[in-house]
Amino acid sequence: MDIKALIVQMTLEEKAGLCSGLDFWHTKPVERLGVPSVMVSDGPHGLRKQDEQADHLGLNESIPAVCMPAACATAASFDRDLIQWMGQSIGASCQHERLSVVLGPAVNIKRSPLCGRNFEYLSEDPYLAGEMAAAYINGVQSQNVGTSIKHFAANNQEHRRMSSSSDVDERTLREIYFPAFETAVKKAQPWTVMCSYNKINGVYASQNHWLLTDVLRKEWGFQGYVMSDWGAVSDRVPGLAAGLDLEMPSSGGVNDKKIVEAVRSGELDEAVLDQAVERILTINYRYLENARPDTRWDKEADHLLAAEIAGQCMVLLKNEGVLPLSEKDDVAFIGEFAKKPRYQGGGSSHINSFRTTSALEAAQGLKVTYAQGYDVAADAATDEMIAQAVAAARAAKTAVVFAGLPDAYESEGYDRTHMSLPACQNKLIEAVAAANPNTVVVLHNGSPVEMPWVDKVKGVLEAYLGGQAVGLATVRILYGQVDPSGRLAESFPVKLSDNPSYLYYGGEGDRTEYREGVFVGYRYYDKKQMPVLFPFGHGLSYTTFAYSDLRLSADHITDRDTLTVTVKAANTGSRHGKTVVQLYVGDVESSVVRPVRELKGFEKVELAPGESKDVTFTLDKRSFAYWNEQLHDWYVETGDFTIEIGQSSRAIDVAATVHVTGTVKCKKHYTKDSIFLDILSDPAAAQVVKPLTDGISQMFGGGGSDGDAAITDDMGAAMVKYMPLRNVVSFSGGQVSEDMLNAMLNALNSL
Ligand code: BGC
Repeated sequence: MDIKALIVQMTLEEKAGLCSGLDFWHTKPVERLGVPSVMVSDGPHGLRKQDEQADHLGLNESIPAVCMPAACATAASFDRDLIQWMGQSIGASCQHERLSVVLGPAVNIKRSPLCGRNFEYLSEDPYLAGEMAAAYINGVQSQNVGTSIKHFAANNQEHRRMSSSSDVDERTLREIYFPAFETAVKKAQPWTVMCSYNKINGVYASQNHWLLTDVLRKEWGFQGYVMSDWGAVSDRVPGLAAGLDLEMPSSGGVNDKKIVEAVRSGELDEAVLDQAVERILTINYRYLENARPDTRWDKEADHLLAAEIAGQCMVLLKNEGVLPLSEKDDVAFIGEFAKKPRYQGGGSSHINSFRTTSALEAAQGLKVTYAQGYDVAADAATDEMIAQAVAAARAAKTAVVFAGLPDAYESEGYDRTHMSLPACQNKLIEAVAAANPNTVVVLHNGSPVEMPWVDKVKGVLEAYLGGQAVGLATVRILYGQVDPSGRLAESFPVKLSDNPSYLYYGGEGDRTEYREGVFVGYRYYDKKQMPVLFPFGHGLSYTTFAYSDLRLSADHITDRDTLTVTVKAANTGSRHGKTVVQLYVGDVESSVVRPVRELKGFEKVELAPGESKDVTFTLDKRSFAYWNEQLHDWYVETGDFTIEIGQSSRAIDVAATVHVTGTVKCKKHYTKDSIFLDILSDPAAAQVVKPLTDGISQMFGGGGSDGDAAITDDMGAAMVKYMPLRNVVSFSGGQVSEDMLNAMLNALNSL
């Protein structure tokens, strides 16, 4: 299709009309020219295609579909291939359902456990989030349908989500809140990007030129179209000029008129409108020219796929010899979630599952009894329920309590106010653990919870919101048919107040300051050497692994080189299993405050008992760089970096050091207020001021190391380092004139 030729034939009104939705889910057609309308639909972990009553909050029904595990779970798989595979099946279902774009993945960083939408998001770590997002996008788009990576950007709370400004410094945006989007754009070119509701440093994302054009398109090379989150548009005309191509849903014609008027009055260049229309139509026709509504959508097969994926995502947090269960033993399943699992969150991602499989159903034929334990709807446990649960626990060899967060505890649209499980569930777990020493807790939640009972139970399996087949996957893991291989994509703090954003999260009025900066998740807990309940990257298996024999391709590199890191991963136990080899990089000494370690590589590896494999990673400049606010660019400071390979951020098996030379010069600007410490840290600058520093200790009465001087050379030097250059003039008793100082400054600034 010759899109440009098509646009030439359009009236101004038709073009403006194309820049907002027809209704909730469709773009507008231009019937006169045979341009069809296309449909988009929520995701991301399945389809929420609405045929009848439409809304964007998950209120009205959608077509029966397959609910895959939510992102909180899939991120924990640390398995790019698996997520790509899930994406392929979702893409195929889009083809079947005539959908041009699925609205996901959602990749916002988990700044606080309180965010109501954490279940939909991937990780607290930007590298992991970016890798998983790219895999999902590649999977979906392999089926010739688009994705909409969302919500761009810094949308990390639901509280006042449509009016709040996320006030974040440049370095933090670049290092923490942008990379998931950046990686996805660079590695997978999502067909569309969805801008977020919030403002960023005072400017709505939907009309933020720097965000939508300078960064997204010019720096990262995004080529698709940008759509608004549903209702995120405040001022349409500046939004269009900023790079927001499609407003969703319909503007009721109001904003279309404003666009027409702005072009007529000369406020908006028509070329800007043409460009937006071209971007939208290019994507629409990419779908239309590859539409295959005859694609089979085998929901039964996808149900089994959902079970398989969920089995690769669950994280075994604790196991003191209690798991796997034996089919020969009597086991009590306790808690209503065993019968009616919580497997997805509320809001726009809510899927109308065509089937669900509970753990109780999946355990049919096994020696399993059931006690309800608590009532989810009433969020309460009667004395009788607890008594029955205790009796069931006593009669069994092992008690498995299915606990977690009821729907109302976490959802799109509002944040949590605490990090606790329902009180009735905590009470139940305590009672069951007291009755049976072999107690295991299975958790269904989209975000960390406090576990006051953790020392009283022998096992904890984090099943997250594992999709409609969660029960099947849970039983397979509990009974050892599948080895648990998920690893935490987020830290579990001991208590909410340990979280670095605790003091500022939610903000004051319509302003939320990200004062913890880059210290999000383990970047903070590790720097603070703070105990956590379970660290980032943690997860047990039914076998054991060890990493050894770490090899670097070089001891010294420059930031233009790549470094190859190889390590041997071995299965040291007696069962088949999968491990996630994690690579962290840390700057040993830095002039800016940096985390102790940051994830820069991971690989999921399958190993038979006794087997070992070499795992290889390639590191490049970005693996060592921080965002330099003076250069407005990535910058490597020359020095030593640690390369750590571990099984979590707190379980490092092997480490080595590499020296990296930065090749970009960060030019300093000196003034009379510059202090000696900063000048002397650059050898060339130190040379320029040598005539001053040579005589300087005399100025402070030093100049002798005979022990009698009031101030030794070392003391003099220590005092002088914080002294500004200007003081030399006043302290030198006329020896250094202002002219001499200015000449020196000229020399310094022309280095
Ligand atoms: C959500 C988006 C969603 C859209 C359409 C909004 O409320 O923030 O994630 O895609 O609705 O349902």
